[in-house]
Amino acid sequence: MKVALKIYRFNPETDKEPHYDTFKIEANLNDRILDCLNKIRWEQDSSLAYRMSCAHGICGSDAVSINGTPALACQKLVKDYDYTQELLIEPLKYFPIIKDLTVDIEPFFQRIKVINPNFQLHAPVNPAEKERLQSIEERSKIDDAVKCILCGCCVAACPVILEQEPKFIGPAAILRAQKYIFDSRRNDSKERMQIIEKPYGIWSCKSYYMCTIVCPKKIKVTEEILKTKKKIIAELHPKTV
Ligand code: FES
Repeated sequence: MKVALKIYRFNPETDKEPHYDTFKIEANLNDRILDCLNKIRWEQDSSLAYRMSCAHGICGSDAVSINGTPALACQKLVKDYDYTQELLIEPLKYFPIIKDLTVDIEPFFQRIKVINPNFQLHAPVNPAEKERLQSIEERSKIDDAVKCILCGCCVAACPVILEQEPKFIGPAAILRAQKYIFDSRRNDSKERMQIIEKPYGIWSCKSYYMCTIVCPKKIKVTEEILKTKKKIIAELHPKTV
């Protein structure tokens, strides 16, 4: 069957304005959107720029906007959309465009750096165990956060970042902080809670749930942020409760 993809095009080196090109390809219902992009690039326009690496939902590099919603091109299938209409493929919102669907993801990693992500173990090792062990219950507190693949979909969907406070550190950075704050092997959770309390930090989150809706790893991002807010109030501001 024929499927049409309307794709955002912009080469800052040669174009004054962005434009859209529509490509018609032969595709199957179970083809991934990434397969469609590859087909276009390999058979029709080798200048089309987009990122991909693992092609299996692990590296997070092929996040794009599909019909207005951030998603991994390698995870979404043609049959996930109304393929009788043109599929609109655009770069992730908010990020500077490098070329076509390729964006500069650096503003995303700058946000992660804000929460001091360097993994340092502080909790003393039990000499009898020789390593820092976690119970299943302790590990379950960070089960969701460790699934994050840093694709940037949550930031590109966050109404606070897009429409209200562009400096907000965003869902992924808070989720990364949550991973450290709730990790039983660490003893620096207070310091990290203080970091994400700073302006444009966790209290800028208005719980729109868009991060949860678009997360390709199905992480309950908003729930984790709410749990972190509760912990901050209980441990840093107990008198306000
Ligand atoms: S190419 Fe790695 S997540 Fe899609």
